[in-house]
Amino acid sequence: MSLPFKRRAPLNSIPADLVSVADYARYAPDFIPHAIMEYIAGGGADEISLKRNRTALDELHILPRALVNCTAGGTHTQVLGEPLRHPLLLAPVAFQTLVHPEGELGTAEAASVLETGMIASTLSSYSLEEIATRCGSPKWFQLYMQQSRDFTLGLVRRAEAAGYTQLMVTVDAPLHGIRNRAQRAGYELPAGVEAINLKDRPPLPSASFEPDQSIVFQGMMSEVPTWDDIAWLQQETSLPITLKGLLHPADVLRARDIGLAGAVISNHGGRTLDCVPSAIDLLPRIRQTVGPDFALLMDGGIERGTDIFKAIALGANAVLLGRPQLYALAVAGKLGVAHMLRILREELEVTMALAGTPTIADITPDALFK
Ligand code: FNR
Ligand code: LAC
Repeated sequence: MSLPFKRRAPLNSIPADLVSVADYARYAPDFIPHAIMEYIAGGGADEISLKRNRTALDELHILPRALVNCTAGGTHTQVLGEPLRHPLLLAPVAFQTLVHPEGELGTAEAASVLETGMIASTLSSYSLEEIATRCGSPKWFQLYMQQSRDFTLGLVRRAEAAGYTQLMVTVDAPLHGIRNRAQRAGYELPAGVEAINLKDRPPLPSASFEPDQSIVFQGMMSEVPTWDDIAWLQQETSLPITLKGLLHPADVLRARDIGLAGAVISNHGGRTLDCVPSAIDLLPRIRQTVGPDFALLMDGGIERGTDIFKAIALGANAVLLGRPQLYALAVAGKLGVAHMLRILREELEVTMALAGTPTIADITPDALFK
């Protein structure tokens, strides 16, 4: 396993040919050790869902309106009760010091400058408190519920005290998917990178299995949350709760009906169960199922302003951006992340102007070609 930062040092200025989010992905392998790059870029098993995230977006086409007065336009919107400068947030992405020593602190500063919301991962390499000090608003906390309810509650209290305003509970990764690409590259978490928020977590009891028992069902899955735990969490915190990683419309409906604030439609960047649809495939059906008022976010494959536009048109209130933040951080630190966010913001503005949809509310299913 190669150590981090063995590759090229991050750049101090942005090369002239680095003009799109995909350009950062193209540059990234020079700046990220191979095994780490494979862990980040890879997905589950045959990466069918990973590929679908892109093809589903590419298959959609925008149908512009001409001669629209766009002079009062803008990307401002309101999501989960909070004003957003644009309908784009940084998805929770673990262990950011894997690609740059400033890790989440650099990402948070860049997000703050570009007025972009950030969702800090439970598995961050800097503490949630340190990240909060660098983060503007919105700042939301992504919670991986832990086996010990006391420990989970401790994380929630810390997030509340640090000023996070939403809890996003990730529910699609109770265990890792079959990550063959990362396995082939020999990926393992390097020494010096750790889930610092979980440092004082009580050790898991050592398990032993009967011959007819399964390490998956009787082992790992016996520790992961269920709907009962979500109900418990609702009673313990006044922070709005969203569930990240729902795909089935019935699950999203259930989230709405038990009084949660919203859902992130996501296949975890194609990294957990392979062969599931992409969020964009499911969005229209889910929006129709839950009605217009329930907050829906989505992620998976977002790389262009046109992608954000398509997701909004199909019923998302905002989108999350995963891998590209690590690529930009690796290539040029916080400067890279800020530059990448500016690219996306400008692309969204250009898309809206050229499509004749000056505000986010104007971006409806009619704006897409069927
Ligand atoms: C993730 N993702 C993730 N999700 C989460 O809820 N908590 C986490 O700690 C992480 N960690 C993480 C690490 C890495 C390296 C990746 C690539 C992804 C999933 C992430 O939030 C998001 O759902 C996907 O990355 C979105 O897909 P794109 O934008 O990467 O295509
Ligand atoms: C991942 C975990 C950290 O996707 O969520 O790698």
